[in-house]
Amino acid sequence: MAIHLDYTNMLAANVPGGGISEAAWDDAETAFAAARRTLEAQRAAGALGFLDVAEGHASLAELRQFADGAGQAFNDIVVLGIGGSALGTIALRTALAAPRWNELSDDARDFFPRLHVLDNVDPTTIAPLLDRLELGSTLFIVISKSGSTAETMAQYLIVRAKLEEALEDGFQRHLVFITDPEKGALRAIARAERIVSLDVPPNVGGRFSVLSPVGLLPAALIGIDVHALVDGAADMARRCERATLAENPAGVYATLQWLADTQLGCGIHVLMPYSDPLRDLGDWFVQLWAESLGKLRDGTTPTGPTPMGALGATDQHSKVQLFMEGPRNKTVTFVAVKELPRDLEIPRLHGDIPELAYLGGHHLGELLDIERRATAGALARRGRPNMTITLDRVDAWHVGGLIMLLEMATIYAGALYGINPLDQPGVELGKQFTYAMLGRADAERARQEWEQLPKPDPRRVI
Ligand code: PA5
Repeated sequence: MAIHLDYTNMLAANVPGGGISEAAWDDAETAFAAARRTLEAQRAAGALGFLDVAEGHASLAELRQFADGAGQAFNDIVVLGIGGSALGTIALRTALAAPRWNELSDDARDFFPRLHVLDNVDPTTIAPLLDRLELGSTLFIVISKSGSTAETMAQYLIVRAKLEEALEDGFQRHLVFITDPEKGALRAIARAERIVSLDVPPNVGGRFSVLSPVGLLPAALIGIDVHALVDGAADMARRCERATLAENPAGVYATLQWLADTQLGCGIHVLMPYSDPLRDLGDWFVQLWAESLGKLRDGTTPTGPTPMGALGATDQHSKVQLFMEGPRNKTVTFVAVKELPRDLEIPRLHGDIPELAYLGGHHLGELLDIERRATAGALARRGRPNMTITLDRVDAWHVGGLIMLLEMATIYAGALYGINPLDQPGVELGKQFTYAMLGRADAERARQEWEQLPKPDPRRVI
């Protein structure tokens, strides 16, 4: 079991005209040491609850008990949530449940419920799902750390009304809340109505919460090995605490991305798994990197990289053209997987047609991996910095480790950029305008500000 980070192609010697110089890399030791001190200080102040993942082992047993007992009474599980309350669960489902699902016997499939994640308020998706569900065998997990997010609360109100109408007494058994232990509307409702609820630890931010009950309860309900997830994460956390930069994967990742942005102008950071199961991890990473690092430094200077997801080999026929010849403003991090659960040999047919004959006898997994190596090499040859994270396989241990690597890298990057990676003040104004337009009682000031904004000018609308 191993996760490795190969950053050969980030350094100038291997990426002519495009990489980070040895001198800059050597100097970065000092910046990293300061970033590590910041992480330690944040941890000592109790702000980085996601690092205490291993200490959550005791509560995992409870969580498994619920998942294997009461939880299995349901055929469908629906997560209501958005942002950090949904993206990690979607990534876990795609990485760890979907591939295995194809391998299960019909009996085993019947044992685990189906997991749906409603991470938006588009009625085009929600209405047909609610029409289709058998409410008597559905569990709704309402996830909101604040307990007040408009999108999630709107979903909850719709679901609750439907449950009350369809089931009358006992509808509460079809609801679980995951929210702050003390604060917020959901917690108050849970207390008043004795709705089963789990805590989002107050010191675990939404986008860092996938390895708390937020992601672990839905994962356990669909049979993902949550102990292995947590063990993989804890193992990576230990590696990513090391003081020596060259031995610290999150430190190396964050420092290289920061140097590439601030010294080479490569501020677009692409995460490109060559693995269908890892495709949704891209969206999770994009939220983590974007919402954590896109900030006003010292309250005035716009700062931060722009994350982007891509999928190999699919995006070789799409974004890779841009990565190769577009502006020199990107780094690409490939995610490679050594062992695949299944492979297919390409038959030796059409031996007389050169465009097909060379494929015969190779395997699809081999083709996927060779294409990744070819793309990395081609980028390096054109002076485009890139690196590769390799997992032995896509299983719970490795996915837990990869999640922790990227979470810790985010904290180090926050320190290197000189911003607070744990808040998100930039989303507030849009929220206030939404409240104002929907008539929320405490949004009077936002309503006044909204009304002063320019309205669409008919001459400018075609
Ligand atoms: O990372 C974050 O803090 C956000 O993306 C939140 O997860 C998102 O806004 C949802 O918030 P909440 O869990 O309070 O409903």
